[in-house]
Amino acid sequence: MSGSTSSAASSTSLTDPISCIDCKTLLGTLPTGACDLIYIDPPFGTGQARKLVSGDQTRAYDDSARGGIDGFMAFLMPRIEQMHRVLATTGSLYVHLDWRTVHYIKVAIDDIFGAGNFLNEITWSYRTGGRARRWFGRKHDTILLYAKDTNAHTFHPTRQGEFRTQGMNHDEQGRPYKTTRSGRLYFHPDGPTVTDVWDIPFLSTVSSERVGYPTQKPEALLERIIKASSNEGDLVADFFCGSGTTLVTASRLDRRCLGCDLNPQAVEIATARLNALRAR
Ligand SMILES: C[S@@+](CC[C@H](N)C(=O)[O-])C[C@H]1O[C@@H](n2cnc3c(N)ncnc32)[C@H](O)[C@@H]1O
Repeated sequence: MSGSTSSAASSTSLTDPISCIDCKTLLGTLPTGACDLIYIDPPFGTGQARKLVSGDQTRAYDDSARGGIDGFMAFLMPRIEQMHRVLATTGSLYVHLDWRTVHYIKVAIDDIFGAGNFLNEITWSYRTGGRARRWFGRKHDTILLYAKDTNAHTFHPTRQGEFRTQGMNHDEQGRPYKTTRSGRLYFHPDGPTVTDVWDIPFLSTVSSERVGYPTQKPEALLERIIKASSNEGDLVADFFCGSGTTLVTASRLDRRCLGCDLNPQAVEIATARLNALRAR
């Protein structure tokens, strides 16, 4: 269902789009219904201190979940409860996780959003990464998609690729069609709709998009999310913004953006990315 731009954000003074702050604090300051779309890519609870050395700089953030899965849930769930509150009726929440925590978090989010508002378990297949000898190589993350209200949420189907029309009949204009009991069935010219399995490459080590922040996500991933679940002028928020991928992509797509990160290095990088985009 396609919803209109409706949020309380226009009445708030969200002048500083990126804050160096715990998202719990930022969320507490936001009015109910302020955000049209929220994407989060929180720490995964890998137990590692994420580190990336770029030139003479080391960029890092701590992903060592304390207290195991219970500690991770105790950290994330109160924040997701607040995200539910600040989401507009037409809004959606995307929660990006992996095999370590996603199953626990899915059940807990159902309690907050209502299981009926769960729309998709998106598989982001990225192929790169280490090999495994004792199990199948783990080459995907999972992104949970919830609507605040499935009767009102914004959603624009995405089309990509081509239908398999080999061997089919063609009409007078050369367009392929299927013959059905009710007549000819034509194919959409923009291709089939995208499903919940997304084959989007991870940023390569030489990608020009790279800003040297560990766990930086590709803009192509965020572009798909933002185009599908928001309209121009909407407020797109990322409360674990890292290097600011969501914010720069939203801004490039003429959405407003809001984000925060605990790590001053992340905020510095994200702010520089946003400023560079705005200076273009
Ligand atoms: C997986 S990274 C996000 C990467 C980001 N999607 C990108 O493309 O660069 C998770 C981020 O969450 C931040 N973080 C951890 N706890 C936080 C909290 N309580 N509030 C805000 N940010 C937090 C970390 O500093 C880290 O930058």
